[in-house]
Amino acid sequence: MAAMELILKEDLLGVDWDRLAEVYRAAFGGTLDAERTRSIFGRCYLTRIALLDGAEVGGVYALCDGELDAAIYGLAVHPGFHRRGIGTALMRSAIEGLPPQVAVMLTADEPWLVEFYRELGFARLKNAMALRFPEHAVD
Ligand SMILES: CC(C)(COP(=O)(O)OP(=O)(O)OC[C@H]1O[C@@H](n2cnc3c(N)ncnc32)[C@H](O)[C@@H]1OP(=O)(O)O)[C@@H](O)C(=O)NCCC(=O)NCCS
Repeated sequence: MAAMELILKEDLLGVDWDRLAEVYRAAFGGTLDAERTRSIFGRCYLTRIALLDGAEVGGVYALCDGELDAAIYGLAVHPGFHRRGIGTALMRSAIEGLPPQVAVMLTADEPWLVEFYRELGFARLKNAMALRFPEHAVD
């Protein structure tokens, strides 16, 4: 079988928002629709969308003030395409796209995700605080 071509798209031109919303519903559950997906991506500092043979299979986005701080959210790959390195490629591209000096935060909900992000250079924070997170996620 021929290898499929992976593209990490850096802009939002020509995105199939229905298909990307389906990726997010499949990865996270929930009811995210095309319009809200477009709205989220459209407001972010940086976005990456994984296209496999031209079809949306994953995404990630970052908020950033351009100077000091950033947060990466919404890393998702459609379950049909897990364990092919797409999540890692999306994260590497997002990190590289942020200004090199900014401090970058994210959350990891599962022990294996902590290891996944450690492999990408992240460490656990001692001083993080959060508002409106689910009860299971807070001390
Ligand atoms: C997190 C996510 C994006 C990873 O995407 P992916 O493309 O499958 O990740 P990769 O193929 O780059 O995985 C890299 C490594 O992470 C680890 N890993 C990935 N998925 C794993 C799993 N389900 N369990 C344990 N380790 C896992 C493995 O070490 C893997 O390397 P390997 O396949 O050679 O063993 C994907 O699982 C997903 O969309 N999950 C649902 C949404 C989510 O939880 N997002 C993160 C929010 S914090």
